Amino acid sequence: MKSSDAYQALEKCKLPADEAHSLPPAFYSSPELMKAEEMKIFRTGWVGVGRADRWPAPGDYSAMEIAGVPVIVVRGKGGRLNAFANSCRHRGARLLSGNGNCPGIRCPFHSWAYTLDGRLAGVPNMELAKNFNRDDYGLIEFHTAERAGFAFLCLADEAPDIDQWLGDFEALHRPWKLDELVSTRRREFEVECNWKPFLEVFKEYYNQPYVHPDTVNDIYNLPDEGDDTTGAYASQFGSTEGTGGLLQNSQEQPLPVMKSLEGRNRQGVRYSWVFPNMTFASGADAVWVYEIYPLEPGRSRVGMTACFTPETVAMADFEDRVKHYYRRLDDAIAEDIPALEDQQTGLASDYAQQGRFSPLLEANVAGFARWYAGQMTLTDKVSKL
Ligand code: FES
Repeated sequence: MKSSDAYQALEKCKLPADEAHSLPPAFYSSPELMKAEEMKIFRTGWVGVGRADRWPAPGDYSAMEIAGVPVIVVRGKGGRLNAFANSCRHRGARLLSGNGNCPGIRCPFHSWAYTLDGRLAGVPNMELAKNFNRDDYGLIEFHTAERAGFAFLCLADEAPDIDQWLGDFEALHRPWKLDELVSTRRREFEVECNWKPFLEVFKEYYNQPYVHPDTVNDIYNLPDEGDDTTGAYASQFGSTEGTGGLLQNSQEQPLPVMKSLEGRNRQGVRYSWVFPNMTFASGADAVWVYEIYPLEPGRSRVGMTACFTPETVAMADFEDRVKHYYRRLDDAIAEDIPALEDQQTGLASDYAQQGRFSPLLEANVAGFARWYAGQMTLTDKVSKL
């Protein structure tokens, strides 16, 4: 499909879920369209980078790639979360890799040194440089925000207002007190598929009897209709038999239901997708979060985090019991990945076509396709390319 035809086909994604078509397959496999996506999706709005407690202490940092841009996220001395281009202001070397803690940021190439808030603090052997002012060579800074215990960054020169961007996101999730939860395990890995199918598979109920028949399918009842949300996210609640945080044959010792929850929230899971790249499940006893970062059209990096209330984490037998929660997450993902890789192979075919959604079982996927189609066809963003 030509790119112009693919953009035209996005119009069919803007309809309500019971009429909408899925995203044109070219958006899952075309390097050219991935480049456009980087600009219109990842360099204009807010991008979720996971739980804010990834960086609890000053100097805690992660180096990551956001849609082709090497980025450093680091907690500053005053507690503020900072994000910078991971490119030295001397001659561009990458400054940090992986995760860790540092008192400041020192370039490994010629040792220019930056503070945790990005100011250039030390430069060896530059005395003879004329008109050289350190203040002009601080790190390039990006916007950051923390909401509901999640961290966000924005690469655009001017960031949209984060609260307008998220709309009623915080209000809808208030019962889970997400900002108080503690992350107890994080895994990172790569998958051989585009970033969007990884999020889509996590947000739909349709595949469960076929991909997860012996692990989690029996837990989930038919979901409620997708929520009518404001803001760049979609959400859908569904009741469960037992807890969604454990395998269906391993339900004997659930961790306590969160004290903050009432009514149906005590016996179900709310699945939410914060556009574009972060998704999470709010269960009665646990919350599990994924961020997905595109690397190539058919390759992505995933961060997967499990979170619990502070009271649950403080239980004497927490470490023993939580292993069953981690196993449920690992087993379900191990079933999803071959399905995703098969889907990627099919989507990359010249003969792949747009499909239709099951309105109830794929409500969040339709919601994302609608949002994505809108972002990709915004004319002011097209004209910037
Ligand atoms: S490139 Fe960083 S100090 Fe030279």
